[in-house]
Amino acid sequence: MKSIEEIFLSRTSVRRYERRAIEPEKLDLIYRAIQNTPTSYNGQQFSVIAISDQTIKEQIYAITGQKQIKTCAIFLVFCADFNKLKQFADAKGIDFPRFQDTMDGLLVGVIDASLAMQNAVIAAESLGLGSCCIGYTRTAAPAQLAELLQLPQGVAVVCGLSMGYPAEHPDLKPKQPLSLVIHHNHYCTDQINEELLAYNDEVSQYNEVRSGDKTHHDWGTHILDYHRMALDYHLEEYLQHQGFDLSFLKDDRRERN
Ligand SMILES: Cc1cc2nc3c(=O)[nH]c(=O)nc-3n(C[C@H](O)[C@H](O)[C@H](O)COP(=O)(O)O)c2cc1C
Repeated sequence: MKSIEEIFLSRTSVRRYERRAIEPEKLDLIYRAIQNTPTSYNGQQFSVIAISDQTIKEQIYAITGQKQIKTCAIFLVFCADFNKLKQFADAKGIDFPRFQDTMDGLLVGVIDASLAMQNAVIAAESLGLGSCCIGYTRTAAPAQLAELLQLPQGVAVVCGLSMGYPAEHPDLKPKQPLSLVIHHNHYCTDQINEELLAYNDEVSQYNEVRSGDKTHHDWGTHILDYHRMALDYHLEEYLQHQGFDLSFLKDDRRERN
């Protein structure tokens, strides 16, 4: 097994995989790491769909355009899940509080699913596997995916994770300096602009020389372009369809339009 330092400090997203299955005992460890995720109230408001069927992986690739979904050994879809608690409440004849229809409820489901995904990322890394989170699983055509995966009401995709034996070893990407990431005792704005501009230059230089595809992108302009594109995603309607009543967001939407 890798050292803790290596697991955390040399992890990169891996998008190309060997054609090789993951041993059942390794998958079992990853699943148990997912199972032992810390969750709000210990409510475990998440579920994972583990997809090993090549036909289904290719269908998801067709929906999302992300190649690593069809080439990975296994594709995990992390979902916020209030269906299990609804089933329990119904079985016991208890009134169901519909926490999922509040901003905090939605966040709880998303946080639980995200922490579970990160547990899987780290477990995979420790076992010599590579992985890549795939947000397009949530944004590309979420209603189509919900139908394909037969997601019941109260369950919504948060993110996908492709996983397999690495067929590439990408360079470590420069990250923001610790001074921008960790604020001691209060949020510190003193050096933000200078440090961010220096970081932006560092990313530009990295993108020019990195192994694999080189680009002329900087950091900030490129990310803001992604955010601009993301303004067109209509997740509110999809979530509504999956049984999350987000009508409290309507005022916000009116302001944006
Ligand atoms: C929530 C989330 C969604 C992501 N979605 C995608 C995606 O759809 N496609 C992709 O190729 N990478 C995706 N990534 C991977 C990021 O691009 C990657 O983590 C980032 O560039 C930093 O690189 P690193 O993971 O090698 O440090 C995603 C990562 C996260 C955390």
